[in-house]
Formats: sequence, structure tokens, C-alpha cells
Amino acid sequence: MSSCSEAVGHTTADELLAGLARIVGADHVLTDADRRASYETDWTGRFSGQARCVVRPADTAQVSGVVAACAAAGACLVPQGGNTGLVGAGVPRAGEVVVSVGRLDRLEPVDTTAAQVTAGAGVTLAALHAHAEAAGLAYGVDFAARDSATVGGSVATNAGGLHVVRHGDTRAQVLGVEAVLADGRVVRRLGGLPKDSTGYDLPGLLTGSEGTLAVVTSARLRLRPLSRHRVVALLGVESTGEALDVLAAIRGLPSLSAVEWFHDDGLRLVRQHSGLPAPLPGDHPTYVLVECAGPEPVTEALAAALDGLAAVGDVAVAEDRRGRSALWAYRERHTEAVADESAASNTGPPHKLDVAVPLTALGNFKVAVRRRCAEAGARVILFGHLAEGNLHVNVLGGNDELDHALLLLVAECGGSISAEHGVGIAKAAWLPLVRDAADRAAMLAIKQALDPQGLLNPGVLFAG
Ligand code: MLT
Ligand code: ZN
Repeated sequence: MSSCSEAVGHTTADELLAGLARIVGADHVLTDADRRASYETDWTGRFSGQARCVVRPADTAQVSGVVAACAAAGACLVPQGGNTGLVGAGVPRAGEVVVSVGRLDRLEPVDTTAAQVTAGAGVTLAALHAHAEAAGLAYGVDFAARDSATVGGSVATNAGGLHVVRHGDTRAQVLGVEAVLADGRVVRRLGGLPKDSTGYDLPGLLTGSEGTLAVVTSARLRLRPLSRHRVVALLGVESTGEALDVLAAIRGLPSLSAVEWFHDDGLRLVRQHSGLPAPLPGDHPTYVLVECAGPEPVTEALAAALDGLAAVGDVAVAEDRRGRSALWAYRERHTEAVADESAASNTGPPHKLDVAVPLTALGNFKVAVRRRCAEAGARVILFGHLAEGNLHVNVLGGNDELDHALLLLVAECGGSISAEHGVGIAKAAWLPLVRDAADRAAMLAIKQALDPQGLLNPGVLFAG
């Protein structure tokens, strides 16, 4: 793989900048440190690096021109969406060209017959939701960073979010993509045919490839029926076992759309940093947030499923939009509360390990994680998506050694070191924990075939 920062000499670098300016317009090639700054550091402040420049193409043809110009100059590039990623995959490391897809924000009219839409890589999830809803449909992936996170970034990471239990991850929504290959050529599969067995599933491959195989410029996405009825319940439970009892009792509900969880320490942080009141009359070690949604009223079926369950004592239920948002806030505000706390406690940016473990291993895993963190003198806040065994392990005052120990625990119980955030540069060194030599060789062969110069997002996914 090439060393990109060395590959472009000074004269060539100037030529590259001039060439990029001809493609996207000088206003959209940012070279001043001030204008580059917000693209160079990630949301957590943990990952940061200098970009050769930030380029903001307006359409696919311009992305193609930019990538071709970088390829001709041997310059590495880092694709960037809303810069809400958490594994360092969207910010520069060593003088790469950052290709911001924010201006590719075109939303085509919703095809209500097929229940599909084509969205540019720079469309935010919030804009996509609003667009689908205006046509009487819904997009199946949602998460707290919806106002900034983009279609391109969520495709690149195969984002999961809050509704995987109902609709699956981003890959399950992607019917097609348009993407620019490492040499500037454009692959366009936006036909949206639900049945198509013609060769390799390139859209499936590019989804979750974290910008290492191509720059996604657009996606054809599956839409879902819009739910007119919705209920959110927040339950206080006494243990992971009880949380899993709740999950088992409601798993079969066709209306089930989210099963999230957090703990007393996370709730304390959220309340401390947001000023929110206590959500329930009593305090509990663990909280489960359940959402059901459907075309018909859903509350009765949820109540019936929970009826008689020993685990369910203290519950808050909301059907109206305001009440539901108020309950969701206790879960969704964990990320910002952890960030605020790390700043206030001077422990440096949190180490955020997004992992998944089999549900049968969840209880023991949680205990082991807490023990390891306590032994290392670090604080850990655990929250996430219970239905998928997806825990966000947020470590305050941690280090790489502790990350290693925690990811080893994940591998030992048959888990994944990245459930929904991607591998990025944060976890590339630990890929061998969960992908054996043959598996890594197959992935590397794909990378080398599609990006022989190693120009696309170097350092991401594959360490060294
Ligand atoms: C979440 O589930 O809230 C997101 O994945 C963000 C995070 O892990 O902090
Ligand atoms: Zn999450």
C-alpha cells in the first residue's frame, strides 16, 4: 500500500489543488486551517489529523473527477459524511484529501408504489425521514445523530441504530448504490429491483466498507409503511436477567420497533448533565426502553405481553409525541452526557467500544467488563441496543491496554468488536480477534483488487 503523504511532491501538490479547484470550484477546495478545522477532528475529539485540503464536490461527476485527480497524483483520500462517526474513519490521519459529500444532498421523489427512494450521500437521516414521511412512508434506520449523520456515512458504516429489531441494519435497507471507484469510474446500481441475482452484490459489499473500496455518492433505499400508532414504555428492572425476560416476553410482537437499555450510572449522568427529572418513582440498577409502532393501536398488545411478568414493577408509558420523546431522551442523551462528563472530569475523550455479544453471554460479559474497568481504575458507562446484544462500552479514563482486554472478552464469548459503528482506525489492530487469517486475506484481496494503490481511506479496517 502506498504512503500517500509522500507520494505527492510540492509541485504536484500545487497542481493537484489547482486541478481540484477546476473540478469543484476554488470556493470548495478548503486549504486554510480555519476552514479545514471542523472536518479534521471527529465528534468525540479523540481522532484528529491534518488534511491536505477538504474538497466539497456538488455531484457524482465532480466526485468522479476528484477521485480520478487524486488517483493520478497518488494522493490518498478520506470520504466524509456528517462527521458523526465514532471510530476515526471519517477524519484525516496524515495529509489526505478529505472528500466531503455534504453537498450531494439531492432527494429524488419517493416511489410510493415500490416504497423506495434514491438519496444522495449528503442527505441527513433527519431530512430522509421527513421526505419519506411526507409521502406517507418511513425509513427504517434511525439514531440520535440523525440531524447531522448522512446517508453516505450510514451506508459506509452499515449503521444499525434503534430499530434493527424491526427493520434490520442499513444493509437491509439498501437496494442499490452509486459509487465512485478508486480510479474515478462510476458504478451505478440504482434500479431498485427487489429481485436481482445478476452477479456479485456490489451494493451489499460497499455497505459497511467504510470508504475503503469506493466513495458512495447515492443510495436506493427501501421504505416502510408509516406507523400511525406508537407507544414507548420505560421499565425499571433489577438485573440483566430480568431485562432479558422482558425481551423474551415481547420479542414476538409484530409491532416491536425498539428494545434499548441503560443502567443507573448512565441515568445519573444523563440527569446530571441535562437536568431531566427522575423517569420513574423508584431507582433501579437497569432500565429497558421499549417502543412498539404499527398501523393499528399497539399499547394493549404490549401491556398484554408484559402482564404478569415478575420483572415489571416500575413503568412509565407514553403514547403522545411529547411523552415518547421525553422517555427516549433518557436513552438518547447518553452519548452527550458521557462526552460532557469526560470533559468535566478531565479524563480525555472517552474510549467508545461498540460491541455485540450473544444474548446468552450478556450477563457474564457485563460483569466481566465492569470488573476489568474497576481493576484498571477506569469508569465505564454501558448502554445500547438490548435486542441485538449491542452494548456501547464507554470507558472514561481508559487506554489501549484496557481496550485490548475488553475486546478480548468480546471475542472469547463469540461477539463482534464492531456492532454498528465500524472498525475504522480505532479497532483495526483488533480485527484478527474476530476475523481469522483466511477471512482477512479474502477481505484484503477485495481491497487490493478495487483499490490497488491503497488510496481510499488508508489505515481504516486494515492496520499497518
Ligand atoms: C447510540 O446508540 O446512542 C449511538 O450508537 C451513539 C453512541 O454509541 O454513543
Ligand atoms: Zn448505538
